[in-house]
Amino acid sequence: MLSVNINKTGNYLTLKNANRSTKLHAIWLRDNAWDEKTRSPENSQRLITLKDIPKDTYIKSATISDSRLKIYFSPENKEISYDIDWLFKNSYDDKKDLSKGWTASNIERWDNTLTRNIPTGDFNEITSNSSSLKNWLEAIECFGFAKLSNGPVKDKALFDIVKLFGYVRETNYGRHFEVRTEVNPTNLAYTGLSLQAHTDNPYRDPVPTIQILYCLESTAKGGENMVVDGFKIAQRLQAEDMEYFDILSRYCSRFEYIGTGQTALRSKRPLIELGPDGELIGIRFNNRSSAATVDVPFEKMELYYAAYQRMGELIDDKSMAVTFRLEPGESFIVDNTRVLHARKGYSGSGKRWLQGCYADKDALYSRLNVLRFQS
Ligand code: FE2
Repeated sequence: MLSVNINKTGNYLTLKNANRSTKLHAIWLRDNAWDEKTRSPENSQRLITLKDIPKDTYIKSATISDSRLKIYFSPENKEISYDIDWLFKNSYDDKKDLSKGWTASNIERWDNTLTRNIPTGDFNEITSNSSSLKNWLEAIECFGFAKLSNGPVKDKALFDIVKLFGYVRETNYGRHFEVRTEVNPTNLAYTGLSLQAHTDNPYRDPVPTIQILYCLESTAKGGENMVVDGFKIAQRLQAEDMEYFDILSRYCSRFEYIGTGQTALRSKRPLIELGPDGELIGIRFNNRSSAATVDVPFEKMELYYAAYQRMGELIDDKSMAVTFRLEPGESFIVDNTRVLHARKGYSGSGKRWLQGCYADKDALYSRLNVLRFQS
């Protein structure tokens, strides 16, 4: 049974149905009106500015009929009709967990127990079936990474994956980069050494938010790929020592990449990034491109290093890494703001050839949202 009650001063109302009760402010309701003078019927963009809404807006009357809420606003003397389902869906009057480091409910943090159940899509399936593509993109949203198998073994096949949801992000490394042994390596990623788990390119701001690594040849021994959930690392650090978590999220680290030629990239960002409401929104960790830390006060620098070292130990902890071997035609995708990746060392005999590229996750989530609307 639907009901509505306005408070004494008319600055908010209480809307109830059989299961829920929610309070909504007059100013919020007026700003979120869907009449054609407030929102464009064509593209739903807002047509008014905040200064068009009187500061002393209040609800003079509110009635319910045919599952719609009709509100009469003063002093505008304007009546607006609302979809009640939309109002409940966008309700903000509930207790939120805003403790430091919270994440959205659709994010699942993981450790190496995920090895038994690595989220994996099939190239042919996701390129021909939109519900398979939706499932694969949902896995990336939930876990921050997923594998893809049965892809073509051909040069630049990784672009076919990007095309499924967005666009390549070109950098000074090009539209894509080759990952294989080179005689004169300019970057450690191109040698046979093992690499500590890291996020890519923290010296960019913004960082590339998606990375794809695609295997074309793999006859050398070793060279397995590993991924580590940076959000799980943050959670463990927080559980062990809140001071460690706080100092790595409060102060910025510096990152730098000075390449040959015309590249001199620098950034100033924290290792653990929180939103203003405490939401965990990003991890940056890349020892190779860390520059001198200069933003931590003298009296806190030792604590900062203790926290940084402990974060590194947790990242190296075997119980945190999901390890897999990529065969030709297989690839994996990571959310580079959350999941760290690594490679084990490999022997000189045989070949290992991967191609990598960057893309951005806003396009990936846009594609996922559209697929959700359609299903
Ligand atoms: Fe990398």
